[in-house]
Amino acid sequence: MKNILITGGTGYIGSHTCLALLKRGFNLTIIDSNINSSSLSISRVKKILKDEYYDEKIVFFKGDIRDKKFLDEIFLNSIKQNNRIQGVIHFAGLKAVSESLFQPLVYWENNVYGSICLFEIMGKYDCKNIVFSSSASIYKNNSLKPILETSEIKPCTPYGQTKVAIENILEGIFKTSSNSWRIANLRYFNPIGAHESGLIGENPLSTPNNLFPIVCRVADGSICELQIFGNDWPTNDGTPVRDYIHIMDLAEAHCAGLDFLFKNKPQFINLNVGTGIGTSVLELVNKFMEVNNCRIPYKYSQKRLGDLPFVVAENKLITSILEWRPKRNIEQMCRDGWQWQKNNPNGF
Ligand code: NAD
Ligand code: UD1
Repeated sequence: MKNILITGGTGYIGSHTCLALLKRGFNLTIIDSNINSSSLSISRVKKILKDEYYDEKIVFFKGDIRDKKFLDEIFLNSIKQNNRIQGVIHFAGLKAVSESLFQPLVYWENNVYGSICLFEIMGKYDCKNIVFSSSASIYKNNSLKPILETSEIKPCTPYGQTKVAIENILEGIFKTSSNSWRIANLRYFNPIGAHESGLIGENPLSTPNNLFPIVCRVADGSICELQIFGNDWPTNDGTPVRDYIHIMDLAEAHCAGLDFLFKNKPQFINLNVGTGIGTSVLELVNKFMEVNNCRIPYKYSQKRLGDLPFVVAENKLITSILEWRPKRNIEQMCRDGWQWQKNNPNGF
């Protein structure tokens, strides 16, 4: 079976994707610096799979993608062990959007330079299949219409700019290498929730800024009140609308993306990964309270700088070319996310 390198594989999206890939039989080489995660997520993944068979299918190396010598040794060893790395899913990166505004250089250095190191070593070992974690934050959209892959790209934060830069680097690699690479940029909308076991989930090591982890902490009492940023947006209930996607649907999109690349000719493709369904902040909060039978005290406060009224994917492209469609609804996202938080209030 193919051996896939997962950078950032102990993080939130990485750990759920590792689980989905193992279920499909892939061998995994995981690397992570653990700057924003714990390698305990791998033990939990194994616990969910409950089978010693999987022990031999995962190897973990703690290290940084900016360390080319470290990457080189991993690729070389995989060849020596007759388990050559044939594809990469590249999650490793810093992702705190507001932090990137204050520390742009840290984001450029970690995300972009780190990606360049990875792509160089991939090329050296003739590993030319990659799925990259991009983001809906690259789009400029002030409208109330779903976003297409061809919509205007104009990120307003250094975080989003690093994602565009990495996509551009990959496009350059594709065009200048006799079109021999297979590259899929997956542009995620808003992943939330957790695996249904409640054993793995989002584990922000610093104070969370995103809505869903904050809602979970209000539900367990560790944050006393949710602040909803504005109630006079041009939406049905005045609160902003987002395209929330269950983390396991997102994980499965990576498996489908990889399958697609392996089965098809070399190409460079951008895909929105969302459900195409918009949910307002108020709708999400009400659904969370209803499904989990709990209280989320909230108050309206000022709008957050840089926020947008409506960010929803047009997902026709991904659902037409990949063997994938999102299967889990907002109720399940709220139920599974809360189950993880309730069972693991302090993370792993
Ligand atoms: P995460 O922080 O949980 O995972 C990222 C992982 O990368 C972490 O485990 C971190 O320790 C590791 N890492 C960071 N820099 C590294 C480096 N230089 N070398 C090795 N490991 C490094 O975040 P996540 O939510 O799982 O996001 C995964 C990817 O998806 C990121 O690239 C992120 O930008 C992107 N993304 C996330 C979202 C989201 O809402 N979570 C949305 C769009 C895109
Ligand atoms: C944010 C980032 C985006 C990134 C995404 C995933 C900004 C402006 N955008 O998107 O670039 O891709 O995270 O990491 O930071 N909200 C509240 N109260 C809160 C927190 C959030 O009302 O305490 C609202 C926000 O106004 C927003 C919605 O909840 O309308 C979702 O917020 P969030 O989870 O931060 O995601 P995005 O804003 O979509």
